[in-house]
Amino acid sequence: MKRRHFLKGMAAGSAAVVSGGLWTGSIARGQTPPSCPPPPANGTPFTAGQDQRPIIQRRSISLLTTAQIAQLRSAFAKLRALPSTDNRTWVIQADMHALYCQACNNDLLHSVHGTWAFFPWHRAFIYYFERILGSLVGDLNYFRLPYWDWENLRSMPSAYLFPANTTNSLYDANRYSVIASGGALPVNDGTAARIRLLDGITDFATFGGTAKAGGACESNPHDPIHDDIGLHTSPWHDMGHLGFAARDPIFYAHHCNLDKLWNNWNALSATSTPPAYQNPTDPAFLSQRWNFYDENQKIVSISAADVLNHQTNLRYSYPTPTTSSSTQSSSSLSAASPDTAVSAPATTLAAPVVSTHAARLVYSETRPGPVIDVTYGVKMSVLQAVRDQNTVMIVLRGVTVPENQMGVFDIMSVDGSRMKYLGTLAIVGDAMRMSPLPRTVVLDATEAADDLLDTSDPARITLVPREGNGSFMLKAEDIELRLVSQP
Ligand code: C2O
Repeated sequence: MKRRHFLKGMAAGSAAVVSGGLWTGSIARGQTPPSCPPPPANGTPFTAGQDQRPIIQRRSISLLTTAQIAQLRSAFAKLRALPSTDNRTWVIQADMHALYCQACNNDLLHSVHGTWAFFPWHRAFIYYFERILGSLVGDLNYFRLPYWDWENLRSMPSAYLFPANTTNSLYDANRYSVIASGGALPVNDGTAARIRLLDGITDFATFGGTAKAGGACESNPHDPIHDDIGLHTSPWHDMGHLGFAARDPIFYAHHCNLDKLWNNWNALSATSTPPAYQNPTDPAFLSQRWNFYDENQKIVSISAADVLNHQTNLRYSYPTPTTSSSTQSSSSLSAASPDTAVSAPATTLAAPVVSTHAARLVYSETRPGPVIDVTYGVKMSVLQAVRDQNTVMIVLRGVTVPENQMGVFDIMSVDGSRMKYLGTLAIVGDAMRMSPLPRTVVLDATEAADDLLDTSDPARITLVPREGNGSFMLKAEDIELRLVSQP
């Protein structure tokens, strides 16, 4: 029923509704899936300078005052209470996300997941969402969404959990019980160590994707955290399925944190020589344009180019990125206890120094998972990097996942009975399954470098599902090694 409002915004004659069949068997807990019309079209284009509000910081949810939490709750409550004749309703916002992704299959080539549209599209979506919430509480100028900095706060912020009923507009019933009761995220997902590793990626293609492949941030931390919160197999819970994910209020705090991650990555460009950490300049990237509803229910459109300078154009900022100045063992897996924010003397982040080395993957018929082949010179450089306490990064491109598998996979170095953790990738409901876009995966091989480069009996790279048994072949088109030294 509510879908009708999308039709209002569609160009005449474009009423072809894309296959409702995609949703067979994926109706989450009685929720009505979007009927998947095309997204709204022909919106008034955003122009730089039109937003003249003050520049206000988005802050960690853990730093909001009681009054700010109350305002956040009130904003979500007002959104949920809008009449179904409104163009801004809670369900329309959530469905807007579905319409642009594989879950609705509207335009796979330009999907906002698994491509370089991932960061700019979500930034644009959240910008209009934030404006709608701000105007609903009469505070368009100063209201900004908080982020859930999972790298510091290892369990879901309690404002989203308790009270665990519908009097709390931030509550969602469709969450895993561990997370829903205040439990911590799995120890490897969305950690500070993972973010440090991602900061060693100097090029956007690897970090944020290309026209045809998703970047390392999507593989981890974006996807695993979705799957950690919502059931990613039938009957699907909100965060575990792209078609429903934005029906969980935590979605917006999760994506603000990813947006902050992108912001902080770009900020490294200030300290890098030669210049790195730059967004793509390809017109095909910059000219991507999407339509949304604004706080006045009007259809508006905005391009990737418009959102790159979020401070000037979209009027929000993030706290200056800092890092703990205590020792950063490059491969230590952070196991911060739940609800404890990391607080240590902080210094402004500086870009690491990165060198790239050729390698190749060798598959064998008889063994599950490839081994890495490098020249003697590369092997010596890698082992020296380990001794120097630098980070050994593996970049895998064109990674495809086993068909019909969903959920979270740990990528392990397997050497006989010795297994070492390299990284994680996850499949969110109806994303990779509908569209086998290859993805880029970045791993931390520092601890396992000896095993992986052992000339006589090298360790294999294997995918181990967190649920269920067995292991899977990891397939990738190519591999490269990067040695990262933190300044
Ligand atoms: Cu568009 Cu986190 O998904």
